[in-house]
Amino acid sequence: MVGSTAAGCLPGGGLWGVCSGEPIPACQRSRREASLGRANTAKFVERLCKYPGDARVIAEAQQHILEAHAERLTKEGGTGGPPVTVEDIIEGRAPRPKVLDMFAGGGAIPLEALRLGCEAYALDLNPVAHIIELCTLVYPQKYGKPDPTAKGSAKDGTWAGLAAEVRYWGNWVLEKVKAEIGDLYPLIPDPDYRAKNGGTGFQPVQGDLFIQTQGKEKRVGAQLMAVVCTRPGAKGKTYLSGSDLPAELLPDEEAVHQRIEALCKKARLTVPYEPISLLRPSPNARGLSAVTRHGLTTFGDLFTSRQMLCLLTFAAAVREAPQVIVGQASVEQASSLLESTGKMPVLPGDYDEEQAKGVAMALAIAVDRVADRGSSLCHWDNAYTKTANTFGRQALPMV
Ligand SMILES: C[S@@+](CC[C@H](N)C(=O)[O-])C[C@H]1O[C@@H](n2cnc3c(N)ncnc32)[C@H](O)[C@@H]1O
Repeated sequence: MVGSTAAGCLPGGGLWGVCSGEPIPACQRSRREASLGRANTAKFVERLCKYPGDARVIAEAQQHILEAHAERLTKEGGTGGPPVTVEDIIEGRAPRPKVLDMFAGGGAIPLEALRLGCEAYALDLNPVAHIIELCTLVYPQKYGKPDPTAKGSAKDGTWAGLAAEVRYWGNWVLEKVKAEIGDLYPLIPDPDYRAKNGGTGFQPVQGDLFIQTQGKEKRVGAQLMAVVCTRPGAKGKTYLSGSDLPAELLPDEEAVHQRIEALCKKARLTVPYEPISLLRPSPNARGLSAVTRHGLTTFGDLFTSRQMLCLLTFAAAVREAPQVIVGQASVEQASSLLESTGKMPVLPGDYDEEQAKGVAMALAIAVDRVADRGSSLCHWDNAYTKTANTFGRQALPMV
């Protein structure tokens, strides 16, 4: 894509030969020269693809692309006019090479095009892809750097840069959620007891069909098997048997359900009731259908009640955040919420609406990560001693 906008002969082979796959330009006269050009190009692209990027190699690539583009613009302008130069492009007297990805997904191609100095355009039909594109391509470009002329959470009340603002408001969300549901995650008295092998040694039930039938008849529930704890200031994890835990520390299912209902009413949210597709995307791919055979038929069924309350509380806080940031929430309400963070460098209401939207979108994506790491399909990963995520691949597997 990049190469196709930069047709022409690039010094030292440049990016053109490898990226476009089209015939070698006329100025690379002999086969030997052409082959050398391609070999150099391949080596250069290899250096360019190394992560993290080397600023000098990226600058060199930008130079190659702009030189080729200047040559193309000169040719398109016909004879007679002065040749277009790289300086003309850099200083805005001539257009930059344009890259359009009409099916951009997560925006990898336009992101690379931007990095290489092109003007990038991205489209996608899928609204999730569109949001990811905004968060990777648009907001970091517009709001990434600190801005002393805009309001924000920096010590002097100015815009601290997108990442710092997301961190600040992310803490705000976290503190608000802690205040609302922290009681469901109590500190556990340390019995100084560690199960020998870190597990509880229960026998798995045999017979997939039996479990599927029980699931469909809604006779499958959840039972606490073990608790994984960390000790403040200590390395490693402590594993407790679920049966060793005092009953009053376990969440009361009925009470959690009532809290979910109350929250949904107040924040105008719903437990996700959308059905999970029963169909396999193809005979050899399961997609989401495996869980439906075990009686998990809606997206809401994928979470325990405490996980669901936690996610809904995060969703409500993130939905509220931009209103607080731009000041549509009452100052009294906003102040009491902000007080819980213990620091309030700016008054709510000061922010620009678009900037607040950029912050809120990044926070919403963070909640997606919480959902991925906090469903009833997540298993315990012994190697990394942490919960594995729900989507290890493009499917919902039964654990
Ligand atoms: C394979 S992905 C794109 C990958 C991306 N170009 C990359 O390099 O990472 C294809 C994308 O096309 C999008 N798509 C499919 N049909 C579309 C349409 N008619 N208009 C816009 N986007 C569409 C899909 O939503 C999907 O995100």
